[in-house]
Amino acid sequence: MPNSVTRVLRAVEDPETSIGNIANFISMDQVLTAEVLKVANSALLGYGRTCGSINEAAVRLGMKRIKLITLGVGAADSMSGSLRGYSLGGGDMMRHAVSTGTIALWLAQALIVPNPDEVYVAGLLHDIGKLLLDQYLLKDREHLMKLLQTSKQPLWEIEERLFSIHHAEAGGLIAKHWRFPLSLVDAIESHHRPDQAKKDHTISAVVNLANAFSPNDSVRSDFLEGRFVHESSLEILNLNPEMLENLKKECNAAMKIGAAVA
Ligand SMILES: [Fe+2]
Ligand SMILES: [Fe+2]
Repeated sequence: MPNSVTRVLRAVEDPETSIGNIANFISMDQVLTAEVLKVANSALLGYGRTCGSINEAAVRLGMKRIKLITLGVGAADSMSGSLRGYSLGGGDMMRHAVSTGTIALWLAQALIVPNPDEVYVAGLLHDIGKLLLDQYLLKDREHLMKLLQTSKQPLWEIEERLFSIHHAEAGGLIAKHWRFPLSLVDAIESHHRPDQAKKDHTISAVVNLANAFSPNDSVRSDFLEGRFVHESSLEILNLNPEMLENLKKECNAAMKIGAAVA
C-alpha cells in the first residue's frame, strides 16, 4: 500500500485524529483526493449538492466511507500492472475491477441492498487474489491452459486443483492482511460461491452477479475466469431466472448510458 494511503488509514482508525487532519492527509494524495470528491458528489450514492472541498467531503462521507474509499484507492494502485500468468495486460485487471465495482453499485441500488459503498469496494477488489497467484500460474501455464480447455471447470476450481487455493481465497488472505472490514474479506473470499460466505451472503451474491454481468471486452485475456452466476446468488437475492435476465438487460442499458455520459 502506498504511504499516503496507510497514513490516512491509520488516521481514520485513531479516535484522537480530527476530521481536519484526515482531510489534510487525503489532500496530500492526488488520486485519493479525486476519488473522495467523486464519491462525495456521486448521484448514485444519493448525494445531490455539489461538494468542492475535501473537508466538506470528509464530513459528508464520514469515517467509514473514507476508510472504504482509501482501501479501494490503495488496492487499485496495485492492480494497475499486468498479470502475465492470467494473460492480463497493463490496465486489464483494473478495467475489470472498475466495471465490476460500478455494476455492483448499480445492483446494490436496484436491489436495495444496504451499504452500497461497501458493495462497490467489494466489487472493485473481488479478484485481488490474482496478484498473489499470478506467479504460480505463470510457472504452470501450459498445464493450466490444457486443463482449462479440457476440463470444463471454471478457472478458480482449476487453481484449487493445482495450487490447493484459488484466487478468491487468496484475495481473502490479502484483505485480512490489509485489515479490511470482515464483510469485505468475506465478499472477496466467496465471490464465486456466495453460499459459502461466513458473514454477509448478500454482498457476496451481488459481487457474484456483477462479476458475471461485467463485459468480457474489459479483459483481453484468454483466461476468462468462468464468469457465471452461481445458483445460490438467486436464492440469496430472491430472484428467479426471468428476473435475473431482466436485471441484466436493465444493467446493460444503464451501463451504456453511464459510458455515454462519462
Ligand atoms: Fe474471481
Ligand atoms: Fe472477476
